[in-house]
Amino acid sequence: MGSNELLKEYSPYLEYKDGVLYFDGVNLQELAKELGTPLYVYSANHIRDQIRAYKEAFKDALIAYAVKANFNLGVINIAAQEGCGADTVSGGEIYRAIKGGIPADKIVYAGVGKTDEELRYALEQDILMFNAESEMEIEVLNELAGSMGKKARIAIRVNPDVDPKTHPKIATGMKKSKFGIDIKKAFEVYKWAAKLPNIEVVGIHCHIGSQLLDLSPFEEAVQKVADLYQKLKKEGINIKYLDIGGGLGIKYKPEDKVPTPKDLADIVLPIVKDLDVQLILEPGRSIAGNGGILITQVQFLKDKDDKKFVIVDAGFNDLLRPAMYGSYHHIVAVKENPEKITCDIVGPICETGDILGENRTICKVNRKDYLAILSAGAYGFVMSSHYNMRPRAAEVIVENGSYKVTRPREDWDYILWKETV
Ligand code: LLP
Repeated sequence: MGSNELLKEYSPYLEYKDGVLYFDGVNLQELAKELGTPLYVYSANHIRDQIRAYKEAFKDALIAYAVKANFNLGVINIAAQEGCGADTVSGGEIYRAIKGGIPADKIVYAGVGKTDEELRYALEQDILMFNAESEMEIEVLNELAGSMGKKARIAIRVNPDVDPKTHPKIATGMKKSKFGIDIKKAFEVYKWAAKLPNIEVVGIHCHIGSQLLDLSPFEEAVQKVADLYQKLKKEGINIKYLDIGGGLGIKYKPEDKVPTPKDLADIVLPIVKDLDVQLILEPGRSIAGNGGILITQVQFLKDKDDKKFVIVDAGFNDLLRPAMYGSYHHIVAVKENPEKITCDIVGPICETGDILGENRTICKVNRKDYLAILSAGAYGFVMSSHYNMRPRAAEVIVENGSYKVTRPREDWDYILWKETV
């Protein structure tokens, strides 16, 4: 397969022109020179297209973009422009979503450990609903809402006990995980919650896991949730919102075959067609994942025994996924070269596990050349850290040949903010 053909499977906005990599019309060699590295680059057109694909497939559903995947304000703002709501998991994410332009009445809020301050803040903002994860949380919310003279709209996050067949660290809908309330117990909890004075039960929520490439677990989970809806209806509890979470996988490896929002809709819509609900989806990765790349610069080349190392300026402080989950991210040179090398691409962090790509065959690179790490738009920057006192990367949005920096590169003093001896 030609290199451009493969790149297009990651993003239609990624291509080599005259041997140089472009993203959404922007020359990445020039961009990296101008802004420095490591540099996260997000394609606005890619993100817009993904959101539109969801909207087209699911028609009237609320697409609550999971801002945890990429909470850059510019990215959130694109989601807002496209009419999205937001799925959030902390007070800070609600704050960001609102700053990014998402109306509070389109925000849902999940998370097993919401603090009183966060709950109060969300009540003040009058968000669409709380995706409650335990009886104790509902009790506390009832009290807090009462003390504020408000009523809290809730969905109960049910745990449908479905194996999502994904990486164990990102599987959430199995009984043994900390998330949600066991679906078998949920009916009783609904009956109890519906009687609380300051709680309005409006929804059912479930999210079974992330990076799902096989859709059958979705089918199983949504069917279970639809059954619960019917049972609740008979009991006189009318559910308005069915929130089926996120989880659609994206292409990481060249050989990955990836389901589309339309494929998901073909499975979900027949199950829910007779339910009188507004559907909510919470996609994160499938919106932003392949809409982002991380550009890094080669610092040194090193040959050791029979192994070649390409040492770059991005490490697991910038992109944790390979070190944390053993994830594969495809890596290509920003400038094509007919000569190839096989090497490990490693970062500057003082740990052996700081490997971005192992045993990769890439275009031959020299010191100061640039590499692009693909599929880095979701769970990339948001999981970055200051480990080894490394300032976090800049973030830039590209669109139709122009760019805007939406978060500048940090410096050492930024990291030392308010710290004292
Ligand atoms: N809704 C809830 C309640 C979630 O917990 C998540 C993700 C989503 C929606 C969005 O799921 P998505 O559409 O992005 O699959 N750091 C890991 C992924 C963790 C996912 C956490 N929850 C990774 O890098 O693979």
